[in-house]
Amino acid sequence: MTHQTSDLEAQLDALRQEGQQAIATAETLEQLDQLRVKYLGKKGQLSQALGGMGKLPPEERPRIGALTNEVKEALQNDLDTKRTALQAAQIQAQLEAETLDVTMPGMYRPQGRMHPLNSTIDRALDIFTGLGYTVAQGPEMETDYYNFEALNFQPDHPARDMQDTLYLTDGNLLRTHTSTVQIRYMEENDPPIRVAVPGRVYRRDTVDATHSAVFHQIEILAVDEGLTFSDLRGTIKVFLEAMFGDVPIRFRPSFFPFTEPSAEVDVQWKGRWLEVLGCGMVDPNVLKAVGYDPEVYTGFAAGFGVERLAMVLHQIDDIRRLYNSDLRFLRQF
Ligand code: DAH
Repeated sequence: MTHQTSDLEAQLDALRQEGQQAIATAETLEQLDQLRVKYLGKKGQLSQALGGMGKLPPEERPRIGALTNEVKEALQNDLDTKRTALQAAQIQAQLEAETLDVTMPGMYRPQGRMHPLNSTIDRALDIFTGLGYTVAQGPEMETDYYNFEALNFQPDHPARDMQDTLYLTDGNLLRTHTSTVQIRYMEENDPPIRVAVPGRVYRRDTVDATHSAVFHQIEILAVDEGLTFSDLRGTIKVFLEAMFGDVPIRFRPSFFPFTEPSAEVDVQWKGRWLEVLGCGMVDPNVLKAVGYDPEVYTGFAAGFGVERLAMVLHQIDDIRRLYNSDLRFLRQF
């Protein structure tokens, strides 16, 4: 055995001992990684020791090579074992830090609930989507054209006064009804049409137990070939029955510029009739305004008062209760 060979053997043995000790005392995964680089890395101590191999006589190289592998494997083995142990310890520490104390008092979050107007709208739209209607919406700020003109209100017709409204300084207005969306929807779509439109409307109305200057409507519109007043009546009846069950209803003849014939429908509420909707067959002039041929298509439409539906549904005695956020009232629903 040459002098260099025994030197190198001693060096490798020392390396193994020192490395194994260092690995055994490492406390973190970072330290462990530094040790891996220090001993087994490309420029690590093991590689450096092997730099001396070239000087050995060829017949001694295999032995030293085998010893090198042995040291390398021993260190690698220790590194793996230690890594597994450190990782497990880390998880254990985390688990202990995050222990859940199930006996601690809970955090109180007051429970909200849906406003009766919203739940009434949802309920009505559920029924109409069940009947094949699509839901659409339109803007609350409107032009005279969509609110009146396209709906066949003549410029000086007294029907405008019934809905006299809040005008904006630019000449626009706050819509008085959701019928505006009939026009907007028909402009963008071709028949056949079945659409339901929930929304807020504004009117110069004197407030009392059944009137409010700001309220909600749901509009429906159906346009197709061959629709008749029976279809309208059937739809309204099916809807009101689904909404209220077996409540007495009555159709009354009425007038709206955009329907011919027109009707209003009342239901029983607190021992008297309460109007809950206006409806009718779409006036041919309205169909013409959006470019439909009234010789081919007919339609029916209706506008429901959401507050009134809610009042009948829950037997609420005054519309104003729906707006003043009294929790004693709202918690009942
Ligand atoms: N827009 C009417 C109102 O607010 C209600 C109405 C009547 C809507 C007849 C309609 C309808 O669609 O056909 O008083």
